Amino acid sequence: MRTQIGIVGAGPAGLFLSLLLQRLGIESVVVELHTRKYVEERIRAGVLEQGTVDLMHELGVGERLKRQGLQHGGIELRFNGSGHRIDFRELTGDKCVTIYAQHEVIKDLIAARLAANQPIIFEAEDVSVHGLEGASPTIHFHANGATQELQCDFIAGCDGFHGICRTSVPAGAMQIYDRDYPFGWLGILAQVPPSSHELIYANHQRGFALLSMRSHKISRLYLQCEPDEDLALWPDERIWQELHQRLATKDGWKLTGGPIMQKGVTGMRSFVTEPMQFGKMFLAGDAAHIVPPTGAKGLNLAVADVRVLARALGEFYQSGKRELLHRYSEICLRRVWKVQRFSWWMTSMLHRFANDNPFDQRRQIAELDYVTSSRAASQTLAENYVGLPMD
Ligand code: FAD
Ligand code: PHB
Repeated sequence: MRTQIGIVGAGPAGLFLSLLLQRLGIESVVVELHTRKYVEERIRAGVLEQGTVDLMHELGVGERLKRQGLQHGGIELRFNGSGHRIDFRELTGDKCVTIYAQHEVIKDLIAARLAANQPIIFEAEDVSVHGLEGASPTIHFHANGATQELQCDFIAGCDGFHGICRTSVPAGAMQIYDRDYPFGWLGILAQVPPSSHELIYANHQRGFALLSMRSHKISRLYLQCEPDEDLALWPDERIWQELHQRLATKDGWKLTGGPIMQKGVTGMRSFVTEPMQFGKMFLAGDAAHIVPPTGAKGLNLAVADVRVLARALGEFYQSGKRELLHRYSEICLRRVWKVQRFSWWMTSMLHRFANDNPFDQRRQIAELDYVTSSRAASQTLAENYVGLPMD
């Protein structure tokens, strides 16, 4: 088999890239480890920046998003028992974010790709990449009972943090920058209308809590927990009780509980690979970098990478120029580091750290007080949350 671009991974990075390339008339094959059902049902992110929403419309995959997505013009920061709204529309020239689950985005992208008769190979086993520095790199895998070799002009490593692309690069060719956090998030999906029409990020002495949603009928909530928290210790009543306490206000706001459909624990880390390319392989999305979820940026950053990559590949196939391909990492990393900074800042402002002393806690509250009372500071949060402009 031969193609122009071999894409490893059918997550947001790989699928958006495949549709962007399709629009430029560039051929690609997507090779995915899991089944279609698995990738279409995996519960992950939920907040789309305006730029991600616009791209879905441009690619002709925004029809369900338009009907089902919830536009949010602000968020609430809650601390010391009171809520403070950050008004995105007013602070950013009418920009907002849209709540639409990542797995719904995935369904829309897969449907569009298959409707155009473009290949996605699901359930590919033993995927490996070879000849990254040669003229024609290859992807090897087993699928449908046979060993296959896919020859490519270029490979896009879109296989997430635990994928094989990044780890196929020889030691020493890439530099890793990372930071672990001493906590995780216990997340639930509950069959109950959200108790607030906008997201609430709460700083509480018992730990961070977040109220989010997936629709008018389904709530998504998170609690700061231990990184290796044992879910067996968290029956539904305990989760609701803890959420009630952390989200409580002095004016008696009420959180409504309901049946929990799904729970899980997510670890938190910041991680960047530099550069994001090696020979003829380009890393994009979580394969190249991870952010803690407090800024709601992981999916959006993956989309920003593949926009740059598609533009660079478009230039190469149209004019033979490699200038943008050479600058892929440099262009992406400027945004990646700004988003790392924002995600780290939101995380450190809102969570309890084990070694916090009363000084740190007062400084944190002062920061929240400043962010919610200074227009300049609120605007800084707002412009990062809705998404920085694309380069
Ligand atoms: P992924 O979505 O990880 O996609 C990679 C794809 O590659 C997957 O389909 C995988 O099956 C496939 N793959 C892996 N290995 C191989 C292989 N060897 N061969 C072939 N295919 C392979 N972000 C937010 O903004 N908000 C959130 O609330 C949030 N919650 C999250 C919860 C969890 C549990 C996780 C893991 C992530 C969460 N994120 C969140 C991050 C966000 O979901 C990711 O940033 C986003 O999915 C990145 O997209 P991606 O395409 O780069 O990687
Ligand atoms: C979510 O709805 O899953 C979500 C929302 C905001 C975040 C992280 C996750 O910052």
